[in-house]
Amino acid sequence: MEKYYLTTAIDYVNGAPHIGHAYEKILTDIIARHYSQRTEVFFLTGTDEHGIKIQKTAKEQGMTPKELCDMNAKKFQDAWKALDVDYNKFIRTTNEYHEKTVQKIFKKLVEKGDIYKHAYEGLYCSGCECFLNEKDLTEDGLCPDHLKKPELVREENYFFKLTKYKDAIIKHIKENPDFIVPAFRANEVINQLEDIQDISVSRAKTNVEWGIDVLDDPDQVIYVWIDALSNYITAICYDTENPSEQYKKLWPADVHVIGKDILKFHSIYWPAFLLALDLPLPKHIFAHGWITIDESKMSKSLGNVISPTSVLENFELEYPDAFRYYMATSAPCGRDGNYSDDDFKEKVNAHLANSMGNLLNRTLSMLVKYFDGEVKPEFIEKCHSELVSESLLKKALGAVKIVENHFNHFEIQEAAQEIISVVDMTNKFVTDNAPWTLAKEEKWTECGQVLVTVLEIMCIVSALIYPYCPNIAREMAKQLSFDITTKLDDLICNNIKVGKLIEKENIKPVFLRVDSELADKSQKK
Ligand code: MSP
Repeated sequence: MEKYYLTTAIDYVNGAPHIGHAYEKILTDIIARHYSQRTEVFFLTGTDEHGIKIQKTAKEQGMTPKELCDMNAKKFQDAWKALDVDYNKFIRTTNEYHEKTVQKIFKKLVEKGDIYKHAYEGLYCSGCECFLNEKDLTEDGLCPDHLKKPELVREENYFFKLTKYKDAIIKHIKENPDFIVPAFRANEVINQLEDIQDISVSRAKTNVEWGIDVLDDPDQVIYVWIDALSNYITAICYDTENPSEQYKKLWPADVHVIGKDILKFHSIYWPAFLLALDLPLPKHIFAHGWITIDESKMSKSLGNVISPTSVLENFELEYPDAFRYYMATSAPCGRDGNYSDDDFKEKVNAHLANSMGNLLNRTLSMLVKYFDGEVKPEFIEKCHSELVSESLLKKALGAVKIVENHFNHFEIQEAAQEIISVVDMTNKFVTDNAPWTLAKEEKWTECGQVLVTVLEIMCIVSALIYPYCPNIAREMAKQLSFDITTKLDDLICNNIKVGKLIEKENIKPVFLRVDSELADKSQKK
């Protein structure tokens, strides 16, 4: 694997970021950080800034669309910074290079005969920014996702010949069972493809002004999805005539991480546009589930929309690690997850403070108490040759492969469970071998050997937990004198060196329990 190029959906900027947007960016950042332990990574995110929704919101707020976009794009960037979402590029679809390239892409598709003009009448949902079929609506005639009545629109639009690519896409999905992740969503897509029609790819300016102009037809703007989806190639400097070196290096993307609600656009429309442009298809489309709040759908009308940074503030968290860990482990691959303050507190206290943090803390404390923080040669030799711990160390190294395999399948929660199971196993090892009893009995070598075994495993754990909790992992590694930038392939089980490992005053809890009083306070807010 020479590179790993991954992207998130680009968020609409008609509002501020919420915990659902954050879920996706955190998942993607975790995948990016994991792959950075294996290869060179390029991580793209950004904002989707055109369309009727943004035009209307700007008008309501007495702003120009561009002013609204600038204000809200910054809120997304600030939120990702606070959550340590460490992307390589943030694309905004109002960026000039993007706009110009989208116009060229559109023109190329017209020249190819894949886009034609056609008078049309249809039901438009501004929430989805697309036309809906009658049969997709609820019994009351509402959009099933946005629970709003779509608007009847009569326009002359440009249409893209999606039907031309139907068979090729069905074939691609069937021949590449891991193209759509999780696999259970592939059937949904195949069903949608069965009765697919050509799609409108422009809107009349009389109805939608805020978009990219169609070249040579100033009465039309390019419909948001062809604009939005193209970000994945314009961001890496694709050009219809002269693709850049960066594009050639990075495309096709290894994965587009998106929510299940926009899978159709990514697994049908986007592949069709790419096939029409004679470009290769992305390797995977990973559709994650949705986050609910206290088991309810998040919505402005219910007043339960949570901003991601408010969680950090309410719990007075210095680092976003606990929130990242909680979100990333809230659901198995592709399923819906839930956020609740109580559950957050309980889970991060149990996993990060009690099991993982405490294990490191008490092991280092015993090393200081019994051996003045010093690792003696016989602890290491025995630890790596004879003995009790060998199978445990083997299991910990085995977990690296298991975690990698989970990441290959975008099983982020499942990978975290594997890491925590190594921690649990190690806690049990400490209980079973009771180093405090060994010390009392003055069995110093055995005692030191147990402690070093645990510390070796904690080096591996710090590397594995790093994508989820980068700050905690760095602090763990610091106390272990372990290089946190070690690639997963280079992980070994003799990182702990002979000599003074740590002074008493340098032992610090890597994660402080989330206070229950704070949690109660945040619930009352
Ligand atoms: N702009 C389009 C995407 C274009 S990608 C070329 C869009 N924007 S969005 O702001 O509505 O959603 C952005 C992402 O956030 C989507 O992947 C969507 O699924 C995700 N989520 C929005 N609400 C969510 C939850 N409540 N839970 C999890 N993810 C959610 O769609």
